[in-house]
Amino acid sequence: MELSKFKALNDVDSVNAYISALEAFDGIAELQELKELARARGGVAAGKSILDVGCGFGLETRRLAEAAGSQGKVHGLDKSADFIKEAQRRAEAAGQSIAYQTGDATALPYGDGSFDCVRAERILIYLSDVSAALSEMRRVLKPSRKIALIEPDFSTNTINTSDRALTRRVLDHEIETAVENSFLPGFLKVALKDLGFANIEVSSRALIFPQDLAAGYFSSLGVNALEAGKITTNENEAWQTALDELKAQNAIFATISYFLFTADAP
Ligand SMILES: C[S@@+](CC[C@H](N)C(=O)[O-])C[C@H]1O[C@@H](n2cnc3c(N)ncnc32)[C@H](O)[C@@H]1O
Repeated sequence: MELSKFKALNDVDSVNAYISALEAFDGIAELQELKELARARGGVAAGKSILDVGCGFGLETRRLAEAAGSQGKVHGLDKSADFIKEAQRRAEAAGQSIAYQTGDATALPYGDGSFDCVRAERILIYLSDVSAALSEMRRVLKPSRKIALIEPDFSTNTINTSDRALTRRVLDHEIETAVENSFLPGFLKVALKDLGFANIEVSSRALIFPQDLAAGYFSSLGVNALEAGKITTNENEAWQTALDELKAQNAIFATISYFLFTADAP
């Protein structure tokens, strides 16, 4: 699972592998807590008009539709046509009416003041112009209505491999290359304030990776670091062996911190 590929998902052969990875991630209890908090603080309720920016294949969008009920209206937008197709298929199978469409977060195809709630999760980290996306979210929000953003900080990745020097080099390479904005949460509060958002609240959870997800993800980080010349072949072998041994004992302990920002539009 290479997270950086989300930047151009249509170029990825195995969309299904990404869907499985996102589903596994979605199952993490601490992330579910943060999503629940995002719905509560983000003003999600029956009858509301809600936009999910970078909705993927609609894992959370369908929960929003459930909460908005028949009097509400939920829209989901994503750059990936494959994801939108899958989102539509799932909504249809569940008998839910959700307005999905492809588009770009930095040029939202909605009128000014269209929504009561706008939320985005794990998308701003991939954007080269975060402010443009935030401005667009502000534009499509009704005055004083809620934005909710959930994003990780890649510098908070941890894993209990015993060679700490090697671990730091592998994780440093991930921080530098995985996404466009590895340290985004540290800048979001000021970015929201600069755009005139008020009542900014921040919460966080350290997500604990399930064993399989951790094994696959951290294994790929070793391969990436090797391919980039940051570690040697021997070091990658040692990295993979360490992961295999931990996994065989069901003993991988790996985490990443996610942050929720909620605020009121001007
Ligand atoms: C890690 S996935 C998260 C999907 C979903 N929010 C979730 O939490 O399950 C990142 C999503 O951002 C989308 N994305 C990336 N850049 C985008 C852009 N400029 N505009 C809209 N969507 C974008 C990708 O296609 C992908 O679906």
